[in-house]
Amino acid sequence: MKIFRTPAELQAYALANKRSGKTTALVPTMGYLHAGHLSLIDIARQKADIVIVSIFVNPIQFGPTEDLDKYPRDFERDSKLCEEHGADAVFAPEPGVMYAPDASTFVEETRLSRPLCGARRPGHFRGVTTVVAKLFNLALPDYAVFGMKDAQQLLVIKRMVRDLNFPVEIIAAPLIREHSGLALSSRNAYLSEDEKERAVVLSRVLDAARPALIEGGIEAIPAVLEAMRHEIEKAGGRIDYVEALDASTLEPPTEKSADLLVALAVYFGKTRLIDNTLVWVKR
Ligand code: PAJ
Repeated sequence: MKIFRTPAELQAYALANKRSGKTTALVPTMGYLHAGHLSLIDIARQKADIVIVSIFVNPIQFGPTEDLDKYPRDFERDSKLCEEHGADAVFAPEPGVMYAPDASTFVEETRLSRPLCGARRPGHFRGVTTVVAKLFNLALPDYAVFGMKDAQQLLVIKRMVRDLNFPVEIIAAPLIREHSGLALSSRNAYLSEDEKERAVVLSRVLDAARPALIEGGIEAIPAVLEAMRHEIEKAGGRIDYVEALDASTLEPPTEKSADLLVALAVYFGKTRLIDNTLVWVKR
């Protein structure tokens, strides 16, 4: 497995693969890989001749008070896992080589990136779309795999690809959970045992919301969200948001909404966790 540390190395490799007619699938990550990430690599492995995993804790998607400096990192373990899962190359640049000190060009999606995490983390999605656009230009992928764990991120990237005509097919991968129901996340490493047990409430309330919304439709939303908030607070979670939006527009649901995205961000201690579920209210 190859390891590239600079954009130029990766781009030369990608160009050579493209010229020899090979297809490529890219899996963008920030590392500290868990079974959720690995499931994306497995999907990529089935799709294309060449699998490239990027491992880059992208500074421009973190706010000034967020966890950039303490974000967990373990490159040795990550690269071993990538190799075991059949990756052909890992791209792990230092931030200094990804952004010129006077970089002044950014990619911004202006609708789907506004609510939910976009409202709570200003500039976050601009950082994500900018780095993903750069990764597409470097890895030249035919496919890129993103997890439904970050449902809003997936929608924003699909919109960017459509609007800017990137020749990349975006593949959505299912959200992987622990047996307890807790969504796998690199940030789970911050949780104490006690917090981890409490955080199981998140998947529990999402599971409970689903039948209630299928049964009650969009009129049931306020009561369902209220019940979710109550349970989360009872378990000691501090709510950042708990919302139900139209899953394709991320606007408030209407009678026309076919799917709802029920999404939440909740702090346990200092750790902010996100989770979501899709509910088909109309068939
Ligand atoms: P990161 O949080 O490392 O996630 C990388 C990819 O793994 C994302 O597509 C995310 O949705 C997926 N993923 C994370 N946990 C998952 C789970 N439990 N089940 C399924 N998929 C999961 O998302 C980012 O990094 C960054 O924003 C990035 C896209 C790399 C841009 O910097």
